[in-house]
Formats: sequence, C-alpha cells, structure tokens
Amino acid sequence: MAAPWRGLLDSEYRPRLPVTPQTPSVTLHEGNTPLLRSAHLCARTGCDVWLKVEGANPTGSFKDRGMTVAISRATQAGVRLVVCASTGNTSASAAAYAARGGLGAAVLVPTGGVARGKLGQAARFGARIVEVAGTFEDCLRAARELAAHHPVALVNSVGNELRLAGQRTVAYEIVDALGAAPDVHCLPVGNGGNITATWQGYCRYGRGRPRMWGFQAAGAAPLVHGAPVAEPRTDASAIRVGSPATWAPAVAARDESGGLIGAVTDAEIFAAYRDLARLDGVYAEPASAAAVAGLLAEHRAGRLTPGSTVAITLTGNGLKDPDAALRDDYDPAPSGPATAEVARTLGLTG
Ligand code: F0G
Repeated sequence: MAAPWRGLLDSEYRPRLPVTPQTPSVTLHEGNTPLLRSAHLCARTGCDVWLKVEGANPTGSFKDRGMTVAISRATQAGVRLVVCASTGNTSASAAAYAARGGLGAAVLVPTGGVARGKLGQAARFGARIVEVAGTFEDCLRAARELAAHHPVALVNSVGNELRLAGQRTVAYEIVDALGAAPDVHCLPVGNGGNITATWQGYCRYGRGRPRMWGFQAAGAAPLVHGAPVAEPRTDASAIRVGSPATWAPAVAARDESGGLIGAVTDAEIFAAYRDLARLDGVYAEPASAAAVAGLLAEHRAGRLTPGSTVAITLTGNGLKDPDAALRDDYDPAPSGPATAEVARTLGLTG
C-alpha cells in the first residue's frame, strides 16, 4: 500500500513550498483531491473533461492549500492572531488552520454576503467574526489596514506568496494525474488569486501550459468589463467581488496563456450546479459551477476545439450553501409512517 497522504507540506511537492526544516506543519491533510472524469460534460462537449474536486479538502474548499502554508509560517514567526477578509471560504479555512495551529483568527465578512455553512464553520472553529456593513472590498481594505497598524497577520492571498505557493499545487496534482497539462483549464474567478496561482503552477511545473479560462458571474464581472463593479450581484456569493485585488496578475494569466475571462449568468450557473449534482454525483457550490457554465458557453460559441483535454476546478463543496440547495428542486412528498402509504406516495401502488 502506498504511504498515507499527510498533507501538502509533507508531500512530494514540499520542495516547491516556501518552508524550511524548522517550519512546523500545521496541516489537516489538505490536497490530493479527486480528479473525476465527467461523463455528461464529455458527451456534451466532445472533449475529455476532468473535475478537480476541491470541495474534498478538509474545510471544503481550495483555500486549504494556501492556508496550510500561511498558518504554518505564521506559527513559525510567532504570530498570535491572523486576520482575513472573506466571502466565506477563506474565513472557514483560516479559522480551521488557526485552531489547528493554536492561533487566534479574526474574520471580516460582508453582512448578509456569506453562505450559512461557511459562517457555521468559522464560528465552530472559534474565529472572531466581524460582520462589516459593506462589500468584500470594504472587508479587505479594513483587514489590510488592521494588519498594517496592529499585531495581526493578514492571510488573504493578495500579494501573499505563501498562499499563492500553496494554491499552485492544484496544477501539480492535475499534471501528475493526467500525465501532462490539459489544453484548457476552467475555473471561477472572484478576487483573482486562484487563476493567478494555478497558471503559475503550470508554468513552474514545466510540463505544458493550458489556456486559462476564467469565469465571473455576469453581475460581478469586473475583469470582463475592464472596470470595477460598485455593487456586485450574484447568488454565487463566493465570487461576489466587484474589484479583484489580484487584478493585474489575473489578467496576465489570461493573456499569457492565450485564454479568456468570460461572464456567465446566474441562470447558467445554477443550471450547471444542478447538472453536476444530478448527472455526475458531484456536489459543488454555486460559484464552482460558474466554471462549468463557462465551459458550456464557450462550447456553444464554437471556441472549444473538439477532442481537447479540459480540467475544471470545482473550488468549493455544495454543503457550504444549504440555502442554495433548497431554493428550488426541493419538493418532498408528505406521507404518514405506514409503509403502504409511503409506497402509495411513491406511486409504487395504486
Ligand atoms: N470559488 C470559490 C468557492 C471561492 O470561495 C472563491 C473565492 C473563488 C472561487 C474565487 O477565487 O478569489 O482566488 O479568484 N473566495 C474568496 C473567499 C474571495 O473569501 O473565500 P479567487
């Protein structure tokens, strides 16, 4: 039997991570997530389509890849309190790794802007949760200013080599699983960190470079319009970001790869969200489904070369957003407890 997986810092990728022998490993055994072939997307596109299921990470999103590095280094540096701004997943991950490493965490989230599962995570992991009456951008500005003037370490990915280095590992895993880089890599784009890190990962690994296809929600698509959006709107709350902090590197990833950043409507996002669950058995959160919606839109527009190999990052777990799951398609049939009545309700008997 192969040695059990022990997390990114104790994996074959360690030499690529900014740690030293003195760095303690604060890990929940993140990484090594499933790469699943999507039969329905293969059939619909005529391509070889693979789903990188990042919702299988310990806190249910790709954020754990960078957080293990950031929190390990924070403990090495003697930091006591970490802070982040978040649409939800970063806060859940920061809170969990801080708990694991014995640090305090403060998370700044936009009031009413975070899926309930993510708030529950941050609360249970013991983070101090500040609900800011404003946007994600307001949270990030405040978090950066706090870190500049108080003894707290910022663990957002913007300008944070530790977070980006960890997030690059998703590309290493995909290349190792497929034997080479895919032709196209699709992913949702919010603040811009993940498209940047994933592209850097492919470039550094040196085993081929995909076109990077990033997708934003149509109501929160500043990188598509080339200008910030003052009031970003989408029910895919994870990517409700009007002014990405990692703007220029995200655009560079698009341009250097010969890729694109497109917009998809919420209707397209939620259709893809339902199809992934029903047809592939993969429960991803709505923001993740934006990448699938985008792939299908580009296919319809004739921009997807038949026979291409496509990797899609499904960035977060569907369990994080129970309200999205129950918003439609929830149609339970009431029945009394008698088996005969249940059978009648199911239409098994007359
Ligand atoms: N998908 C999910 C599920 C996310 O949580 C995020 C970002 C993204 C995609 C976009 O990644 O920001 O690197 O372009 N979530 C951040 C957060 C903003 O606070 O959890 P990005």
